[in-house]
Amino acid sequence: MHSHDLQGPAPDDPHPANPRAQIAGILRGRWSTRLFDPIHELFDDELTQILEAARWSPSAGNSQPWAFIVGRRDDPTHQRFVELLSRGNISWAPEASALILTLHQSAVERDSDLVLSDYAMYDLGQAAAHLTFQAQSMGLFVHQFAGFDHERAAEVFEVPNHWTVTTGIAIGRHANAEQVAVAPESLLERERTPRQRKEFAGFVFSERFGSPAGGWG
Ligand SMILES: Cc1cc2nc3c(=O)[nH]c(=O)nc-3n(C[C@H](O)[C@H](O)[C@H](O)COP(=O)(O)O)c2cc1C
Repeated sequence: MHSHDLQGPAPDDPHPANPRAQIAGILRGRWSTRLFDPIHELFDDELTQILEAARWSPSAGNSQPWAFIVGRRDDPTHQRFVELLSRGNISWAPEASALILTLHQSAVERDSDLVLSDYAMYDLGQAAAHLTFQAQSMGLFVHQFAGFDHERAAEVFEVPNHWTVTTGIAIGRHANAEQVAVAPESLLERERTPRQRKEFAGFVFSERFGSPAGGWG
């Protein structure tokens, strides 16, 4: 048994079912776990660091078109979010230490048709990526999800109509060996499923769209 087994995987461990890709350890060590430690708590300063990472990410014209509604396990925000989760996500997401609802600003102001930025959702996604790797660098795991009732979320969290509910982000510590040992088989099976990716030829091109780039792909 490795020394970190009881604490869960080390931050630069690859997914058990992942081939070793030649990328930075912090990227190789990320996967969307469904096995969170249901007791672990995120401290204020940890959450602050994670949100700071999102805050300092780039955005079109520095528009910063993102918002985050943050709940920690058992607080009212978390409880409300849990009630909106899809059947698939309710089996794992509530165990995470924090559930964050993400939003992007779609129009400049309430009741306006004027788009704030064509890149608002792109910018939110990038902020989510930065947040992810900040958390990962702190030994935490992140699992993003779209499976929840978006319309209800907008109502429950009183979202103004120029903001769009986008995704959820679960953050927490990976379950330790004892917790994994009692996890439902359905979750364990998904956790062990090999992760699949397209070949470079499917998305890296040169000369024209669809023409696979030679040499590095
Ligand atoms: C926008 C978005 C929505 C997602 N929705 C869900 C979801 O509802 N439930 C879930 O279990 N995983 C969800 N995921 C996680 C993806 O399934 C996962 O990232 C993908 O299968 C690749 O696996 P990996 O993150 O472990 O590399 C979502 C991820 C993103 C970025």
